[in-house]
Amino acid sequence: MKLSAHGLRRTYRSGEVTTEALRNIELTVQPGEFVSIVGSSGSGKTTLLNTLSGLDTRYEGSVKLGDQELCELSEPQLAQLRHRHVGFVFQEFNLLDHLTTTENVTLPGFFGPRGDDNPRERAAQLLERVGLGDRLRARPPRLSGGQKQRVAIARALFCRPSIVFCDEPTGSLDRDTGMSIMRLFNELNDSDDLTLVVVTHERHIADLARRRIVLEQGRIIEDCQQTPRWPDDDTDDDKQQDGDDAYDDAQSGAGHREVGT
Ligand SMILES: Nc1ncnc2c1ncn2[C@@H]1O[C@H](COP(=O)(O)OP(=O)(O)O)[C@@H](O)[C@H]1O
Ligand SMILES: [Mg+2]
Repeated sequence: MKLSAHGLRRTYRSGEVTTEALRNIELTVQPGEFVSIVGSSGSGKTTLLNTLSGLDTRYEGSVKLGDQELCELSEPQLAQLRHRHVGFVFQEFNLLDHLTTTENVTLPGFFGPRGDDNPRERAAQLLERVGLGDRLRARPPRLSGGQKQRVAIARALFCRPSIVFCDEPTGSLDRDTGMSIMRLFNELNDSDDLTLVVVTHERHIADLARRRIVLEQGRIIEDCQQTPRWPDDDTDDDKQQDGDDAYDDAQSGAGHREVGT
C-alpha cells in the first residue's frame, strides 16, 4: 500500500505557544520499501510517524494511505484502516505483563475482523518467525528487552499489515540487541515484502535501512537510497572481503542523492 504526504504541516497550539513540528513535508513510500527517518530529539520524528500512520489527523496538507486521505476519515473508519493495514512497534514494547507471549501476540485479533481461525497457532508461527518459538508460554517479565521487542513485532504482524511503523524500536536496547532487531526487520522486509518505516535518533540504526530520510526542525533535509551498513561480520557473501573497491563503494553509499524538501 503506497503512502504519500504532500505539503504536510503539523502545528501544535497550546495557549500562546505554537510549535511548527512539521513544515511542508513531501514524501512517498512505495510498497516494500524499508525507510529510516532520523533526526535529533525534537526534530519532529514522532509527529511525522503519527500523522503518516493515522494516529494524528490534525494536520494541514495531505496524507494518503493507498487512496485514502486520512483526515477525511471518521474515527471508526480510521481505526479500521489501521487495524487492517498498519502495524506499530514502539520503544517501550507495550506488552501486558500478566499475559503469555502467545496471548500478547493474539491481542490485536480482538479489536476487529482480522482475527484468525486459529489465533494461537498464528501467534506460535509468528513467535517462531521472530526467533521465540521456544518461549510461547513465557510472560514478559521473564524476557530480555530484545525478546520483548520481538514479541511486540510478532504482535504488530498479527493482522497481516502491509506497512509497519516503528518509533525508536531500538531506543531501549543495547547496541548489539538493537542491531539484531534491525536484522529481523531487514529479513521481514526482504522475504515478506513488508513495508517498514523506522524512526530513530541513532545514525548507525538509520544506516541499516535501504532509504534514509533526515529530519531537522520539522523539515526533510535529506532523502536518499543507501547501501545498508551492517557491521563487518555480516558483509554480504557475494561481496569480496579483500579490501577491493566494490566493497568500499558499497560502504560509502553508492547511489546517494539529495532530494529537495
Ligand atoms: N502534544 C504536543 N504538544 C505540543 N508540542 C508538542 C507535542 N508533541 C510534540 N511537540 C513538539 O513538537 C516538536 C517535535 O516533537 P516530536 O515529534 O516529539 O519530535 P521527536 O520525536 O523527533 O523527538 C518538539 O518541539 C516538541 O516539543
Ligand atoms: Mg520521538
